[in-house]
Amino acid sequence: MRRLLLFPLLLFAMLLGCGSDPGHPSGTAATDGAAIYAGQCVLCHGDDGKLGLSGAKDLTMSELSKKEMIALVTNGKGLMMPYGRVLTAEEIEAVVDHVRALGKRP
Ligand code: HEC
Repeated sequence: MRRLLLFPLLLFAMLLGCGSDPGHPSGTAATDGAAIYAGQCVLCHGDDGKLGLSGAKDLTMSELSKKEMIALVTNGKGLMMPYGRVLTAEEIEAVVDHVRALGKRP
């Protein structure tokens, strides 16, 4: 009886072990700027940064420096909420890099 119970338990433990790979705590998806942008920013700024909902500016025309953008995204401005509460500094830098790359497209 005991052995019969042990087997599914072991299997369960192995499955759990695979799910939370301790080697990669946040994975690559969490710091993928494009993925964060798609999840958090597209709503107001659009895929290409030009949507400009709620009075947002065309991000491709932004003249802010990288440092200023990080500060704006972290602290929020106007109708844009402060992302410092929901994203880590690393994630904010990744999403700002993505925004800055949008402007370099023809
Ligand atoms: C609720 C809508 C909304 C969402 C969601 C949003 N923004 Fe904004 N964003 C705005 C508005 C409105 C402004 C203009 C703020 C102002 O100048 O008053 C703005 C301004 C900006 C600016 C400054 C542009 C400039 O040159 O002045 C950047 C950069 C920016 N957003 C990036 C982001 C990023 C990155 C995200 C996702 C993490 C994001 N925004 C999510 C509404 C939004």
